[in-house]
Amino acid sequence: VTGAVLDLTGRPRLWDDQLLRLWRAAMTRALADVDPSLRAPLGGDRMLREHLACELGVTTDRVVITSGVRSAAVAVVRHASRVLVERPTFLGVPSLLSAAGIQVTSAPWERIGDAEDGAAVWVTVPARNPDGKSPDAALLAVLREMIASGRTVVSNTTYQWFAPQAVPEGVVCVGTLHKLAGPGAQLGWVIDPQGGRDTDEALWFAAPPLHWQRAWGYFIGAGGLTVLRDRHADLATARTAFLAALGFEVAGAGPHVLLRVASSEEDAVAAAAAAAIRVSPGAAFAATEPAIRVCLFGLSPEAARLAASILGEILRMPSTPLDPAAADASAIPG
Ligand SMILES: Cc1ncc(COP(=O)(O)O)c(C=O)c1O
Repeated sequence: VTGAVLDLTGRPRLWDDQLLRLWRAAMTRALADVDPSLRAPLGGDRMLREHLACELGVTTDRVVITSGVRSAAVAVVRHASRVLVERPTFLGVPSLLSAAGIQVTSAPWERIGDAEDGAAVWVTVPARNPDGKSPDAALLAVLREMIASGRTVVSNTTYQWFAPQAVPEGVVCVGTLHKLAGPGAQLGWVIDPQGGRDTDEALWFAAPPLHWQRAWGYFIGAGGLTVLRDRHADLATARTAFLAALGFEVAGAGPHVLLRVASSEEDAVAAAAAAAIRVSPGAAFAATEPAIRVCLFGLSPEAARLAASILGEILRMPSTPLDPAAADASAIPG
């Protein structure tokens, strides 16, 4: 549509009629089973845990229900003296940990192994936000060593739907339906191989009420998760088309691409907006170099190629030279 803005900031998509029908049916069944005043049992509603365990390929007892990644973050690092968070990353997690009074430091994946004694390590695996990267064999080996030495290693598995990579045995996985179903899903889980009653109790108040969990159980049982996943059927093709059109190596997975810019981030974001494309500044994800982050959710391969042709020029745009006339003018007092 002429004049339409292409929003590549990751705005969540609303549910269509098919999803709404499934949800209404699931919630109706849930409310016939349980009263909304009820809290879920420790660990979560059995039926939901069974469906998720089946989906995630783990045993039911290992799945502890939460309201999402951020609701569980403080509880999973509670035994650590501080937390080393990867950089770049989704800053929602480290800012929340800091706000809870936890000492947070950051390091790129290449230096994760330098974590101080007693620090927990937080990484996003697979298909990290903001750059779509997944760990290579060297990083996986470092994570395994850390686990073997008794350190808590947490993997934020928010993007597991978009890349097949498994995390090393012993990693605490923190999951969410946020990216498939939207922020209102308020449904997540923790899989902690060392967990027990103590972990279940720490996460209990991070969990949604029983009727909400039961509705999600019925919804998933009726195929709702498959419908949600199918909405992203084009994602891998769109990613390939986007990177190839930019002339970049086709790498990474998931919706996010971090693109280095020659100009300032501010100028690149503004130039993209002037070309009717909304993107995010790399600084919003603690990117180490000036960059923009694009989210490819909902893009057809054709739209991805079109976006790449416009953004390609913006990436090469030089940094704004200081205008000597403007500098002179501002030097004149009054
Ligand atoms: C890496 C990452 N983790 C977590 C979230 C949010 O998940 P939740 O709403 O379950 O905290 C997002 C995005 O919103 C994300 O990109």
